[in-house]
Amino acid sequence: MPKITVENAETGESNTIKVGYGANLRQAVQYKDLEIYKGLNSMMNCRGLGLCGTCLIDVEPMENVDPHSFFEKLQKVGPNQKLSCRTKVYGDVVIKVAIKD
Ligand code: FES
Repeated sequence: MPKITVENAETGESNTIKVGYGANLRQAVQYKDLEIYKGLNSMMNCRGLGLCGTCLIDVEPMENVDPHSFFEKLQKVGPNQKLSCRTKVYGDVVIKVAIKD
């Protein structure tokens, strides 16, 4: 089972969760009652449709998640960033959340 270490850039909290192979990152983190979004973005987002860009995260290493999707190319995410709603997890990763204003 892949492990996700979730580091919240807004609060400084760090938590580790285990998820199923190929799990959707946004859904898995929210299922464990952890925050993906910064501030009011937790209420004002596209609910995982890949349109708003507010679920942006830093990911390390990128080899353990799926490649950038069409929506991520549209949002012009950085080389070590993903939209959590467009991310499937295939191995242990460390992510930094709550980075997008
Ligand atoms: S929740 Fe809007 S892009 Fe991911």
